Amino acid sequence: MIAKKAKASHTDLVVDKFPDDELRVQFKANLKGKNVVLVQSFYSNVSDCIIECILAAETAAELGAKKIILAAPYFPYLRQDKRFRSGEAVSQEIIAELFDLYFDSIYIIDPHLHRKHSLKDIFHSKTVKLTANLLTSEYIKKHIKNPIIMGPDEESFNWAKSVADSIGAESRILKKIRYSSYHVEVKLNKYIELKDRNVVIVDDIISTGHTIVETAKLLRKMGAGKIYCACVHGIFAGGGLKKLKAAKVEVISANTVPNEKAKIDVSGLIAKSLR
Ligand code: R5P
Repeated sequence: MIAKKAKASHTDLVVDKFPDDELRVQFKANLKGKNVVLVQSFYSNVSDCIIECILAAETAAELGAKKIILAAPYFPYLRQDKRFRSGEAVSQEIIAELFDLYFDSIYIIDPHLHRKHSLKDIFHSKTVKLTANLLTSEYIKKHIKNPIIMGPDEESFNWAKSVADSIGAESRILKKIRYSSYHVEVKLNKYIELKDRNVVIVDDIISTGHTIVETAKLLRKMGAGKIYCACVHGIFAGGGLKKLKAAKVEVISANTVPNEKAKIDVSGLIAKSLR
C-alpha cells in the first residue's frame, strides 16, 4: 500500500526461520544503487522484528543499496526512557543506538516521546516524526456526535489536546498512577460534567488496556454516556481487547499495528513523506 501510494517499486523480504528458531532473511530484488525503505511495525514478536530489521538493513547495504531507510508505523521501546527501577536497562537509548548503526534515516508515526521531547534527542540518524492526529480527528468528527476528549495521563497530552483542538472539542487530561504493567489508577484533577455525553479517550498506545479500562470506570461513575477510545498503536497485549470489550469501550485504532479495530489508515502519511 505504501509503495503504491509513494509510486515506488515494491519487493517482499523473504523471512523464515531455521529449525533452531534463528531468522533467515533474503532479498529477491536487485538493490544496487537504490534507496531501500524497510517497513516494519514491530508487532507480535518485537525481538524477532528487531533482528529482522538489522539483518535486512546490513544485507541491503552489502548488496549495494544507496540509502537504507526505516519506515516504522510503530517503533518499540520508546517508553523505557529512564531507569525506573535500579539496575534496569534504559532500553530506549540502547535500541536507538543499535538502529543508528544501520539506518540512514528513520520515519516513525507517533513515537512515544515523554521525557525526551524530540526524536533528535534519541537518534543520531536523520529522523522524521509523523502523526496520525489529523486522521484521528477526522474520524472522530465524522462518526461521533459532540464528543468530549479525555487524555488518561499527562503523557497522552500530545495526542488528546491536539485531537481535541482540531475538532474544536472540549478536553481534559486525567492523572494516572502506574504501580506496575498491570496495575494503574486513574484520577480526576477537577470535576467535569459528563452526564450522558459521548466521551472519547485519546491515547497513543494501548498495550494491556488497563489504562483505558480504569479511565472508563472513572468516566462511567461520572455519568458518561457512550465511551470510545481512539488510539494510534493498538497492541492489545495479553487479551487487552477482550478487557476493553468487557468494559464496554468502543475502540478505534490506526493501522500502524495490524489489529481488528484498525479503522484509520496511515499508509498515505508515510507514502507522502517518503515522496
Ligand atoms: C503510556 O503512558 C502510554 O501513553 C499508554 O498510556 C500506555 O502505554 C498504555 O498501557 P496499558 O494499555 O498497558 O495500560
